[in-house]
Amino acid sequence: MDQLKNFTDVKHPVLKRDLTILRETTTLPERFRSAVKRISNVLAVEISKEFDLIEKEIDTPLEKTSGFFLDVDVVLVPVLRAGLGMVSGFLSVLPNAKVGHIGLQRDENTLEPIEYYYKTPKDLNKSKIILLDPMLATGGSSLAAISFLKKKGAKDIVFACLVAAPEGVKLLYKEHPEVKIFGAALDRELNDKGYILPGLGDAGDRTFGTL
Ligand code: PRP
Ligand code: URA
Repeated sequence: MDQLKNFTDVKHPVLKRDLTILRETTTLPERFRSAVKRISNVLAVEISKEFDLIEKEIDTPLEKTSGFFLDVDVVLVPVLRAGLGMVSGFLSVLPNAKVGHIGLQRDENTLEPIEYYYKTPKDLNKSKIILLDPMLATGGSSLAAISFLKKKGAKDIVFACLVAAPEGVKLLYKEHPEVKIFGAALDRELNDKGYILPGLGDAGDRTFGTL
């Protein structure tokens, strides 16, 4: 479907194994966090596949050869709280990335996101922004995060999530069609409380053990 074409469903056996760990009710926070980290690693590799390189001559112990350096300033922006769990997996692939933070919380009745924190590096307009949030449900939180980032000058934004619902993907496509979304699963639908089905429950609570 056209409105889902901005979503890349990243496929890998390791992702399927780790998503299963996340989905299972019996998974405790420590195991949940390590699976999030491994999935984030794979997503970071996939997202950076198209990054530009600069070629420079380097010395090996034996002779000179071509070396390659990433030609991109990356800013990771996790949405608090649950996005924090994705940061270390991304940093292990992109260790020079800067990290900004956006604090948003869904109002449980209206499902509208409320902003409680914002801090990002300057010069967002020259950077590749990777927004991190494990769950794309109604899309309200990521829509708000993308709008804040654009107001602060961001021009090149991609969004990395673990699990997305079609409703959220369609909303982001309608409002920000140029923002590509990378995820490990596109699930079926939302329930009447805005939870993704089959999903994995509340990602923040499962990451930090606040159930
Ligand atoms: C969760 C999740 C997303 C948001 C997704 O956060 O981490 O930010 O819900 O839902 P949406 O697409 O309908 O906006 P939550 O508001 O529960 O905050 P938390 O991370 O602090 O638990
Ligand atoms: N936020 C979550 O943490 N989980 C969902 O299923 C939807 C929103």
